[in-house]
Amino acid sequence: MTTDNSDKDVAFGFRRVAEGDKQGLVNDVFAKAAQRYDQMNDLMSAGLHRLWKDDFITMLAPPRLPAPFHVLDVAGGTGDIAFRIVRAGGAGARVTIADISPEMVEEGRKRAAAEGLADRCAFTVGNAEALAFPEKSFDAYTIAFGIRNVTHIDKALAEAYRVLKPGGRFLCLEFSKVDVPGLDALYEAYSFTVIPAVGKVVTGDGQPYRYLVESIRTFPDQESFKTMIEKAGFARVSYRSLSGGIVAIHSGWRL
Ligand SMILES: C[S@@+](CC[C@H](N)C(=O)[O-])C[C@H]1O[C@@H](n2cnc3c(N)ncnc32)[C@H](O)[C@@H]1O
Repeated sequence: MTTDNSDKDVAFGFRRVAEGDKQGLVNDVFAKAAQRYDQMNDLMSAGLHRLWKDDFITMLAPPRLPAPFHVLDVAGGTGDIAFRIVRAGGAGARVTIADISPEMVEEGRKRAAAEGLADRCAFTVGNAEALAFPEKSFDAYTIAFGIRNVTHIDKALAEAYRVLKPGGRFLCLEFSKVDVPGLDALYEAYSFTVIPAVGKVVTGDGQPYRYLVESIRTFPDQESFKTMIEKAGFARVSYRSLSGGIVAIHSGWRL
């Protein structure tokens, strides 16, 4: 957990960096990755991210009704989660995306226009730690593969709680701790050799992908993250590990 202290250093992958520098370094990673982000997701996860995201949307279960259902998708990047939500939901489903990277948001806007979803998905640039939305304004808050990039996870969770309506749901999809013997060693080898190498071939630069892999290892395990969500005030917090714990979906409610 992090606290407000400007002298502190924090993890940026396996490196320690000054607290105030981390977000800028993260932003550089996604600015470089933005144009090839969707292609790299498929390559790095062998397409598995699509199945994990489908499970995530199934858990959210956006109502198939014309009544308004407004989701805030934080760190929504190029819109993968938002597009799935509006496609799965009824006519009242709409999503506001808030992502700190103007480059990722730009890619997202282009995709939304190309897929005919621009009127139901609003892309905004914003920081998960200080959301520009009134309190109690969303029916659900989603964040997929985003929260481990945030400098102060506790602030992002407090903001999630603040913007949710009472009865609203928090759902987070994130890399987690592999809990299957054998798979952990295989996954480790794959992550640290194959992913940066593929990143270098496809984008010309392996460094952003090294950060992505390292940041997965420094993120709290399933139980520790559950405790953080509870500390932010959420009730009925639970999680489900997928693919042997490579990723986990955490759920909580603002009651
Ligand atoms: C791995 S991408 C995930 C994108 C998308 N949610 C998906 O699942 O495909 C992580 C995203 O987090 C965004 N991000 C990083 N730090 C953030 C912050 N403090 N606030 C909001 N977004 C942030 C990055 O710009 C990037 O678009």
